[in-house]
Amino acid sequence: ILMAKMEHQSSPTPHVLIFPLPVQGHVTPMLHLAELLCLAHLQTIPDDWPPQNRPRPQASNVNIMKILKAMVEGMAPRAEPLIRELLFGTTETDKVTCFIIDGWLSFAYDLAKEAEVPVIAFRCSSACGNWSYFCIPQLIEAGEVPFKDMYALILTGNKYAYVQKLHYSENEEMDRIVCNVLGMESFLRYRDLPSFCRGKDKSSCDDLRQYFMREVQQTKQAQFLILNTFEDLEGPILSQIRSQCSQVYPIGPLHAHLKYRLGKEETPLSNNSSSSLWEVDKSCTSWLDLKPDKSVIYVSFGSTTTFTADQLMELWAGLVQSKKYFLWVVRPNIIASSLDGPIPEDLLEGTKKRGYKVKWAPQDEVLAHRAIGGFLTHSGWNSTLESIIAGVPMLCWPYFSDQQVNSRFVSQVWGIGLDMKDTCDRSIVEKMINEVMDEKKEELCRSMDNISQAAKRSIAEGGSSYSNLNHLIDEIQAMSK
Ligand code: UDX
Repeated sequence: ILMAKMEHQSSPTPHVLIFPLPVQGHVTPMLHLAELLCLAHLQTIPDDWPPQNRPRPQASNVNIMKILKAMVEGMAPRAEPLIRELLFGTTETDKVTCFIIDGWLSFAYDLAKEAEVPVIAFRCSSACGNWSYFCIPQLIEAGEVPFKDMYALILTGNKYAYVQKLHYSENEEMDRIVCNVLGMESFLRYRDLPSFCRGKDKSSCDDLRQYFMREVQQTKQAQFLILNTFEDLEGPILSQIRSQCSQVYPIGPLHAHLKYRLGKEETPLSNNSSSSLWEVDKSCTSWLDLKPDKSVIYVSFGSTTTFTADQLMELWAGLVQSKKYFLWVVRPNIIASSLDGPIPEDLLEGTKKRGYKVKWAPQDEVLAHRAIGGFLTHSGWNSTLESIIAGVPMLCWPYFSDQQVNSRFVSQVWGIGLDMKDTCDRSIVEKMINEVMDEKKEELCRSMDNISQAAKRSIAEGGSSYSNLNHLIDEIQAMSK
């Protein structure tokens, strides 16, 4: 839980209480937002929650969303007293002006309502991902969701099952176009919908859908909605969201926006505090220094993706067979089960020759390195935006949640990457790495350059995200009067 004091503005000083889901992909943009709001008289308030008792995503190939939902439910009773104290127990001068709440944490809305503190929703994923969540009621009503079960296959990652399934009509079923997500009717396939729209375990997927419908309802009640995106990238989808939420502020890409504003500050208040929940291994940058320009594929799947042993071996073999240099982030908990048997000699040899593994990389720095030519990613929204700012084309292997939608936009709408979803076969991994790094490199880089430039324009003075943030700050200032 964070408290941001926007002290660079004239008095009275607004105090913004910020509440992120404790997952890397949410903590990072929330901290960037906090720093942007106050540049950067930021206080973190310890939540008095012993590390061993914190619910955290476990290595699991079952359903990470169920785990995250359970985490939120476990967190609510612990966080509530502290939030209450901050919202109700403050003196007049320290009064909370507004409460910025993560899109997963709607239990906090009720507390804000009780304390009569205005709420600003911050949903950390893309506009396109969020809009697909907004459309769940229409999808259910039209009978488009839930649909047939491919979920088990995707998550078990059993390559033989994949191959078999490819010959069945069920696979074609997954390629059918979805009709009830307005603005995406010409290209969104069933397989591109958020993972919980698929459902072997019917009751738990129903439960998740209900959960997200409730969260969306709360978002609509918020006074403002902040999104980490920019008008030129997601304008048409932002218009759809604006049809349901009155005041939407796209102010991203936040990581670059923060850097831009800090660069402009004469005396930066922030000492570039790290938002990383993991220990960063910087040794990989010296390895990259020795490699030719655009010759390395960076491989990272964010903070929550897990693989089965089978999937990991397919991916690894594909990386080695591609004969490209690769820098691979292998988190200690990235694999959900143990590997059976010894690792084949050719994989070890190929990795020694061309690979470098770390547990957690300085991703922003890595993507900006001249040696990086492609990014094999899970399409988490922060990773996608970081890749856009760095101008690096992507190969997407989405895992859950908004990632399925993001990867469709990356490949089909923006043309800045390829989408490998629902497959995990070494020959496909090899082929698609080569496409991103060689055969399709030029066309992907051309689109990426355009979008990357647009992203940089949006956060620079006069750009849409820059102006939107100024308006938001004015609104928050006005609330404190
Ligand atoms: C989650 C969801 O997965 C994602 O779909 C949603 O949009 C946001 O929340 P996560 O899975 O962690 O996030 O992925 P992502 O959004 O890409 O965020 C990961 C962050 O960790 C990025 O900022 C990335 O730079 C950072 N990272 C990742 C590192 O700093 N080092 C690494 O080695 C890997």
